[in-house]
Formats: sequence, structure tokens, C-alpha cells
Amino acid sequence: MPDGTPVELFTLENANGLTCRAITYGATVTGLLVPDRSGRPGDVVLGHGSLEGYRTQGAYMGCAVGRFANRIARGRFTLDGTTYELPINDPPNTLHGGSVGFGKVVWKAVASETPGGPSVIFEHVSPDGDQGFPGTLRVRMTYSLTNANELRIDYEAQTDRATPVNLTHHSYFNLACGGDVLGHMLQIRAGRYTPVDGSLIPTGELARVAGGPLDFTEMKPIGRDIAGVPGGGGYDHNFVIDPGGPAPALAATLTDPASGRTMEVLTDEPGIQLFTASNLGGRAAAKRGGTYPRHPALCLETQHFPNSVNEPGFPTTVLRPGGKFQSTTIYRFSAG
Ligand code: GAL
Repeated sequence: MPDGTPVELFTLENANGLTCRAITYGATVTGLLVPDRSGRPGDVVLGHGSLEGYRTQGAYMGCAVGRFANRIARGRFTLDGTTYELPINDPPNTLHGGSVGFGKVVWKAVASETPGGPSVIFEHVSPDGDQGFPGTLRVRMTYSLTNANELRIDYEAQTDRATPVNLTHHSYFNLACGGDVLGHMLQIRAGRYTPVDGSLIPTGELARVAGGPLDFTEMKPIGRDIAGVPGGGGYDHNFVIDPGGPAPALAATLTDPASGRTMEVLTDEPGIQLFTASNLGGRAAAKRGGTYPRHPALCLETQHFPNSVNEPGFPTTVLRPGGKFQSTTIYRFSAG
């Protein structure tokens, strides 16, 4: 880091030839090598070529997102009678925890071996008042590369004052390891989504996806209805995962017919943001060379709903002293 703080890189390898690389800057996944149907490994996540890229590019590639994933309307919320002001880093709102969120700090980390596979345990203490949020927040994220071919993220947080918490992981996936993702097949187990206003703040309604471009209840190619998505920039929507199953339950299934790779996303979070990376088209594709096409990847960000802290009808994101935030998301890979 510019101030001399060292950044460490951890490489996790499971028993079946999957490899995950993660760095302490932003608890960021910088590489995820997964075999295709013929056993050939390929890197299924986008990334930068150097630490400098991660520090300066602002696309949240592969990083941890907190304290509050997605948007908080007008950078403001009121909790127990006190109003808190946050940085407006995505005018007119706060995005992904403010200007210096959890993807922009250096975490502490230790490696650990378990019978199920290797892990790296990332820890960070966000001080009281960090980015305007109340309370000292102690966060732990454990990334495990299991021998069942899963990248498993276990989130934990504790606070000494009431504060909103919404944590996610921001990998941009491309199971073909190149090109765009319009031919990927996607299913999302969600009959509803949270419609938004012009600045991407939910209206509070849980609308039905039925039949429209947001209907992923049956497998369909991502490109099939993308031109009909309001706004014209592709998908950037929070889906309300159907209840059911013992947590963490299946939320989404993504398949690349060409390589045969499939990724299932399981979570105990109530929502999942599908983002088809409209921000990257034409930008330099550091890891792969050249420039990114339109929709070069997609994010599937498991989360509480955007702006929950200002929307009493949404599941609560408030963590209180003595309580513990715990959540698990699993990205499970296979090929066939
Ligand atoms: C996503 C968000 C997008 C965009 C992106 C970062 O999580 O839904 O609107 O902000 O992060 O570029």
C-alpha cells in the first residue's frame, strides 16, 4: 500500500484441482480456477492485473462489500432517534458502505486447514463512526474452498452500538473465461423483485417478475430479454429469493453451455442482486488483455434488500450489541 502496509495473497487449493486466490486488500478474490467439462481449469472471475488496479479502478472486483451493501437513500438513516449521515459516493446515495468501504481496506488474515478443505479467515475492525456508521463493528469473513467444489463464505459481525449491517461479495463471474455472458443460462429462484426509482432506490414494493425480462424462474439465456430491461443498461436488480429449504438454500443456477461449467449460489440471505456489469464494457480487461465487451460478466450478490435501513417493510438489517450477525453464501461448481 502507499503507506507501506503489506498486502498478502493466499492461494487455496482443494482436492479436485480448484484454486482460489484472495488478497487482504478488500478481502478480494483475485482468481478462481475451475475445471471445464474436459477437466481444463479456467479463471471464472474478472480481476485486475495488479494491486494498483484493485486500489484505483472502483469496480468492486471480487471484493468484500460492507458495512452496507448496495444503496442507502441520500446517504442518511435514522436509528433509535438519531440521524446518521454517510458519504454520498454514488450521488445522490451511498453505495457499498461509503467512499472507503470494506473493499478498500487491508484486512488481517490467517490460513486454516480443515478436513473439508482449506480456508482463509479475514478479520477487520471498523471503528465507531467509520463512514458515518455508529458502533465499533468487528467483522469476520471465512473463505473456504471445500472438497465439494464450493467457494463458501461465512460472514460474522458484532457491534457495541446498534448499527445497520449488510455484507456481500462482489465477484464478476464469467464461466466461459472470456467473451460476454449473454449466452450463459440463468435461473433465479425468485418470483418477486424490488422495483427501484431513477436512482436505484427500491420503492418498497415487492413486484412479481411474472413473464417480463426479470423472470428467471425458468432457465433462460441472459441475453434473451436483456434489451427489454428498463433503462437499457442490462440487469442491475435485487431479487426476492423465494422462501424454502433449510438455509442456506439454492438461490440461483448459472450454466455456460459451451464449457459445461455450472455455478449454483446458495444463501440464507433474503435477496440477490443480478448485475450484468454495464460499467465494464470497453474498459481495459487487465487479466485477459484487450477490452471488455458489453456484459463481460455478472455479479450475483447475496444481500439484504437495498436501502433496508430506511424501509421498515423490508427484513431488518439492524444489528444490536450482544447480537451476532451470521450468514453463509456458497458458490458451488460443477461441469458436465
Ligand atoms: C453493484 C450495483 C451496481 C453498481 C456496481 C458497481 O452491486 O448493483 O449498481 O454500482 O455494484 O459498479
